[in-house]
Amino acid sequence: MHAELLVLRLIHILSAIMWVGSGLFTTFFLVPALASTPAVMGQVMAELTRRRVFRTLEIAAGLAILSGLRLLWIDSAVFSGSYFATGTGNTFAIGGAAAVIAAVFNFGVARPAMVRAGAIAATLTASADAAEKALLAQELDRLRKRGTIAAMLAVSFGILAASAMAVARYV
Ligand code: HEM
Repeated sequence: MHAELLVLRLIHILSAIMWVGSGLFTTFFLVPALASTPAVMGQVMAELTRRRVFRTLEIAAGLAILSGLRLLWIDSAVFSGSYFATGTGNTFAIGGAAAVIAAVFNFGVARPAMVRAGAIAATLTASADAAEKALLAQELDRLRKRGTIAAMLAVSFGILAASAMAVARYV
């Protein structure tokens, strides 16, 4: 049990910092730094995709959530109600729920919206029809707004999860 806890904690904390840290860096530094140069942004995103960064982050998030669930299972003696009535149990549970919500916004809403926006941007550049261009530009704008809001929500819930995990033992 002791060895399993050590391995689970290593997997949990390393994968979680990679996922949440990348989200913070991307949202607050990378995207604003490239926002004024869409062509450079496209090149950087294409290269990151080629290096499988988005797949790696999905795996990191999956590992953080699965190892977290197993840790919660062990700590709460198979999800017993009395554990969640304590400040520590309650705070780990709130943090865990926030992390799951962050993953849904990140991989279920923001990422698909940005992938579709990328495809539409490519069609827009290639299109010669003015009416089609106007429609595509509208759709692109809608998808970008949706992606940006979902990414901000994902990062906010990620921060909430990390903060809850950081203080859970002391409340
Ligand atoms: C954003 C994602 C997450 C981050 C950044 C994160 C971070 C952390 C950190 C830093 C600790 C160590 C806290 C300490 O030892 O005092 C921890 C522990 C823990 N986390 Fe998470 N976590 C995340 C997601 C989750 C999820 C999804 C769950 C469960 C559903 C979970 C359940 C737990 C549990 C039960 C512990 C205590 C482990 C033990 O007894 O040693 N975490 N987490």
